[in-house]
Amino acid sequence: MKFLGYTNFAFVVFLVSFHSLSACSQSESEDHEFNYDEGTGRGPSRWGTLKPEWRTCSDGRKQSPIDIGTVQVNSELGELQRNYRSAQAILRNRTEDVAVVWSEDAGNITINGTTYRVDNCHWHSPSEHTINGTRFPLEIHIVHRSPQNKTAVVGILYRYGMPDFFILSISPFILSLRTEDQNLGFINPERIGFPGSSYYRYNGSLTTPPCSENVIWTVFRQVFSLTLLPDMYIFYFYICGTLNEE
Ligand SMILES: *[C@@H]1O[C@H](CO)[C@@H](O)[C@H](O)[C@H]1NC(C)=O
Ligand SMILES: *[C@@H]1O[C@H](CO)[C@@H](O)[C@H](O)[C@H]1NC(C)=O
Ligand SMILES: *[C@@H]1O[C@H](CO)[C@@H](O)[C@H](O)[C@H]1NC(C)=O
Ligand SMILES: *[C@@H]1O[C@H](CO)[C@@H](O)[C@H](O)[C@H]1NC(C)=O
Ligand SMILES: *[C@@H]1O[C@H](CO)[C@@H](O)[C@H](O)[C@H]1NC(C)=O
Ligand SMILES: *[C@@H]1O[C@H](CO)[C@@H](O)[C@H](O)[C@H]1NC(C)=O
Repeated sequence: MKFLGYTNFAFVVFLVSFHSLSACSQSESEDHEFNYDEGTGRGPSRWGTLKPEWRTCSDGRKQSPIDIGTVQVNSELGELQRNYRSAQAILRNRTEDVAVVWSEDAGNITINGTTYRVDNCHWHSPSEHTINGTRFPLEIHIVHRSPQNKTAVVGILYRYGMPDFFILSISPFILSLRTEDQNLGFINPERIGFPGSSYYRYNGSLTTPPCSENVIWTVFRQVFSLTLLPDMYIFYFYICGTLNEE
């Protein structure tokens, strides 16, 4: 099983590296509303000025991401229970990222008595949250919404190491993604896995415009690992601008 995984993995990485070069140069879309490249005047420090409804990006007082370790994180927001199930999902090119979006009810998490249904997961490279100043190569955000449309996001960081099974399993779809949604079939969010049972919890915001606040963040203390040849992989979650940010 493991050997098979590795063989497929090497193959996928080869294709990814070949494909991503063209994907990235094409994605420099001038008219995209916001991006991660400060040089374009539409980078993160300008988001709050681009549209009146994005003002929170610069005026907000509880903005995410944060550096965990230097900012006080509240550990009294309650437990995290998950109750996921398999449901139809698609892979979507949202221009600023690639997201797995569930089109049916794929279950939920419960935090302090409120149930939030899973909506999508997507990646940021490099990580947005840092731990005591350390930035990681990749971060997954699993986004959930309550019936009152309150948002709860679970964040997990990745370091370099062994391949990640969930990413590996959707790689072929990522490779063939252009602008049309790709049907992923049934995906159980459980497959992403939660690393360990210890996490940081704080009250923050969406990390992209409109940067809305009152978002409950759960960031796992333990990190996932991510492949051999990681740079090529990360490149594929492509946000080409973010890679130059550091
Ligand atoms: C950050 O570093 C300080 C000082 O070394 C340590 O006490 C603290 O536990 C660290 N925090 C995290 C989240 O690792
Ligand atoms: C948890 O829920 C209880 C009851 O709904 C509420 O009183 C309390 O403020 C909540 N705590 C937090 C930290 O959200
Ligand atoms: C949470 O998801 C489970 C299945 O994963 C479902 O049975 C349950 O009804 C859901 N809870 C709510 C409050 O939607
Ligand atoms: C729910 O909140 C999200 C994020 O703040 C927003 O994009 C979406 O439009 C909201 N949906 C509804 C039905 O209000
Ligand atoms: C994703 O969509 C954007 C335009 O919305 C396009 O520029 C980019 O090339 C697409 N990505 C891929 C991998 O085709
Ligand atoms: C989180 O912060 C918002 C303001 O951004 C506040 O309205 C809300 O009550 C806070 N929620 C909790 C659970 O502390």
